[in-house]
Amino acid sequence: MSISAQPSRPGVIARTAAVVTALSMTVGRGAAARVVADLAEVAPGDQVVDIGCGPGTAAREAARRGATVTGVDPSAVMVNLARRISRLRRAHHVVWLEGSAEAVPLCDDRATVVWALSSVHHWRDRAAGITEARRVLRPGGRLLLAERLTRPGARGHAAHGLTPDQATDLAGELRAAGFIEVSTRTQRAGRRTLIVVGGERPCSGGTSA
Ligand SMILES: C[S@@+](CC[C@H](N)C(=O)[O-])C[C@H]1O[C@@H](n2cnc3c(N)ncnc32)[C@H](O)[C@@H]1O
Repeated sequence: MSISAQPSRPGVIARTAAVVTALSMTVGRGAAARVVADLAEVAPGDQVVDIGCGPGTAAREAARRGATVTGVDPSAVMVNLARRISRLRRAHHVVWLEGSAEAVPLCDDRATVVWALSSVHHWRDRAAGITEARRVLRPGGRLLLAERLTRPGARGHAAHGLTPDQATDLAGELRAAGFIEVSTRTQRAGRRTLIVVGGERPCSGGTSA
């Protein structure tokens, strides 16, 4: 009896669907990447961590601005695609790692900037993700969580993002986790409106508003 080493048909279909989804995320993401990089004031010398990097548009934008970058995503398909695109575009100074917001595979106090674009609404445990962002950031480092602005009551894909009330809740969660200078702003990025919740890790330990 011979055992076939061929992948199963459902396996092939699932993998193809994952690759198509990943490829679709390479389209039209540049404007959001530039807006977030502008807000973070990314400059040479920055160490940027992109959580939920997908195919890596924002991570490469940070690298273009002179930062050293780590893109983190739980999807092996996304990480592989990000790596391939970066090789093709000769985008250096980016390391791609499998990992999640809840378990960032990096040591403490490493980053000057942590950001997540269109990723927070996917996180399984937002409190754990915010705690991880704070751990990975150096004192004085900045966190930016950018999502598409959505309307209350939106359904399906239109609900993938944050309503103003949900952004207010997220800002409260950043404050509760010890971030300071917490702000929420909306900004146009190409055809989308982004809502960006940001904060700074304080230079001294404790929590403050
Ligand atoms: C809509 S895509 C956004 C990708 C990229 N940030 C962009 O804006 O083009 C959402 C990404 O979040 C990732 N993701 C899902 N769950 C996650 C988690 N728990 N932690 C971090 N990233 C996650 C997905 O794998 C996916 O790559």
